[in-house]
Amino acid sequence: MLKVAVFVSGNGSNLEALLRKKLRGGQIALVVSSNPSAYALLRAKSHQIPTQTLCRKDFFSQREFEEELLELLRKYQIDCIVLAGFMLILSPFFIQFFPKRIINVHPSLIPSFCGEGFYGIRVHQAVLDYGVKVSGASVHFVNEVVDGGEIIAQKAINLSKNETPQSLQKKIIKLEHQILPKALQTLISQIKKEKHGK
Ligand code: GRF
Repeated sequence: MLKVAVFVSGNGSNLEALLRKKLRGGQIALVVSSNPSAYALLRAKSHQIPTQTLCRKDFFSQREFEEELLELLRKYQIDCIVLAGFMLILSPFFIQFFPKRIINVHPSLIPSFCGEGFYGIRVHQAVLDYGVKVSGASVHFVNEVVDGGEIIAQKAINLSKNETPQSLQKKIIKLEHQILPKALQTLISQIKKEKHGK
C-alpha cells in the first residue's frame, strides 16, 4: 500500500472527497494542516486518519518549517502528497524530495487565473472580471513554478448569465471533488508501475 499525505489549511471538502474514494493500492496515511483550526482536521479524525498541525509562524524560516515537514513525512513513510486547499507555497528545496509525487488542485483552467495571488474567491472574481465564458478545475503536478507543473486532469463548466464569484465557486468545487480522487488514483497506479519496473 502506498502512503499518501494530504496537506490542508481550511474546510477540507477535497480531503473528504479523497477519503470517500476507495483507493486501489494506496491509503491516506496522514493529514497535515498549516492551520490548527482547519475543519479538515475534524474530517480526518472522524475517518481515524492521523493528523499533524505545522504552523509556518512557529518556525524561524521556511527552510526549518520544510525540514520539519520532511521529517514528519519520513516518519510516516509517505510516498506521495496531495495539496488540497493548502495555503502555503512550498519551496524548490522541499519539492526536490518529491519529484512528480506532489499534486495540487486549483479552481480554474490552468494556465488561466492561476499562480501567486490566485486563491479562494479571488480566482472566481478574476474570471468574472475578465469575462471569460468557461472556467473549471485543474489537477496538476507541483514543481517550482506556482501552479506551473504538468496538468493531470481538468474539467470545464460554462458560466451562466447571472454568475457570481460565490455561485461559480460552488460549481467548481464540485468539479474538483470529481477530478482530484481520480487523479490521485492515476498517480498511485503510476508510482506502483514504476516501482515494479515496466
Ligand atoms: C479549493 O477550491 C482548492 O482548489 C483551493 O482551495 C479550495 C479548498 O477547498 N486550492 P477545501 O478546503 O478542499 O474545501
